[in-house]
Amino acid sequence: MSLSRYDFPEGFVFGAATAAYQIEGSAFGNCGPCHWDTFAATPGNVVRAEDGSKACDHYHQWPADLDLLQAAHMDGYRFSTSWARVMPDGVNINPEGIDFYDRLVDGMLARGLQPFQTLYHWEMPSALADTGGWTNRDTCHRFADFSEAITRRLGDRVAAIATINEPWCVAWLSHFLGVHAPGLRDIRAAARAMHHILLAHGLSVERLRGMGQQNLGIVLNFDYPATVSASPEDQTAANLWDGIFNRWYIEGITRQAYPSNVLEGLGPHMPAHWQDDMPLIGQKLDWLGVNYYTRNLHAHAPGTPWPSIRTVPGPLPKTQMGWEIYPEGLHHFLTRMAKDYVGDLPIYVTENGMANADQLEDGVVNDRIREDFLFAHLAATKQAIADGANVKGFFYWSLLDNYEWAEGYEKRFGLVHVDFATLARTPKSSYHALARALARNTGA
Ligand code: FCB
Repeated sequence: MSLSRYDFPEGFVFGAATAAYQIEGSAFGNCGPCHWDTFAATPGNVVRAEDGSKACDHYHQWPADLDLLQAAHMDGYRFSTSWARVMPDGVNINPEGIDFYDRLVDGMLARGLQPFQTLYHWEMPSALADTGGWTNRDTCHRFADFSEAITRRLGDRVAAIATINEPWCVAWLSHFLGVHAPGLRDIRAAARAMHHILLAHGLSVERLRGMGQQNLGIVLNFDYPATVSASPEDQTAANLWDGIFNRWYIEGITRQAYPSNVLEGLGPHMPAHWQDDMPLIGQKLDWLGVNYYTRNLHAHAPGTPWPSIRTVPGPLPKTQMGWEIYPEGLHHFLTRMAKDYVGDLPIYVTENGMANADQLEDGVVNDRIREDFLFAHLAATKQAIADGANVKGFFYWSLLDNYEWAEGYEKRFGLVHVDFATLARTPKSSYHALARALARNTGA
């Protein structure tokens, strides 16, 4: 495929994304412990019980990593600022942590990269996990304090701030399915986390707006809800999945209401007076981040408790994660967001990418399959723009192979290969393909 930056509107932001715990190395710089450290230390939760203590050592190697973004002609970099690094006990500031991000943001600006910051990409400080994490309403207020503290330092230089990365993962995947930290499988904890994560978003937006901060958004992830069969029961199951995964968050924010099919199950477990929080949750955004990876097929699961859904992967080719490759889904969500929810509000594809069992051979990684994936999703984005979605940028997940949460270091998403023994970085063929697509014709 021969797409280049000139197939997109001038000013469209091309970049790559990462997250603090996945690349920095939490053992460095007086970072505090977070719930991922203890989740990983508990047998059975994470492949080989690996954690992010060293990760890609980005804490020390960040200048070279930013050079890689610049050399690929990228316009922006989506990164996150770890709560546990900035506030190791969840309350008091770690000067080394805040200095690190200060240097990092200056490093981006020096290389012509727009800093797209995420405030919560899952480093819940252990001290706050101890008091209930996202099941505890008080955590939302602590998060607003963190938002203020880090923004006092960086807010004059970042291009955009996202409050939360992927509330579905924070709430459902982590408190109902138990796959991510804190690994709970409890409907009451899930209902509270579903609401509190959006309340935290609302309190953070309110605090940052009060400081005059511009360009505030949130990053939501979306999963295309197909059905196993055309039966009405399976359609109902897919609609409920759509409610839990896709609609809960965007409708909480843009309509100040939660989907009724989800409330049928969660209603009895919601925190008292949750309705009173909806105006705070529904404050105006400046932009919306869309993360998209795959679709799944759903069927009614008779005889099982609510939500009574059986989910299976579809028949198309899959990535190393087992995720079906379905670029049409990205077009679907970008146009659906514009049409049903946000109108002309700027939308960014804040994550899209694939894991692949890449091999480093003779100093080269040939990942043609990732090139095809990436350009197919760029084409879907271009089509969504043609169909009226106001998409302003695209961030590939991820710059580097990194700590893929419960999958440990086994699943490689990077444009750049990382040898986790030596930490050597090797740009893959997908990196070079993207760099060629992003190069500017200088007329020289
Ligand atoms: C998303 C996460 C990101 C990464 C990708 C593969 O859910 O935001 O940290 O793990 O998936």
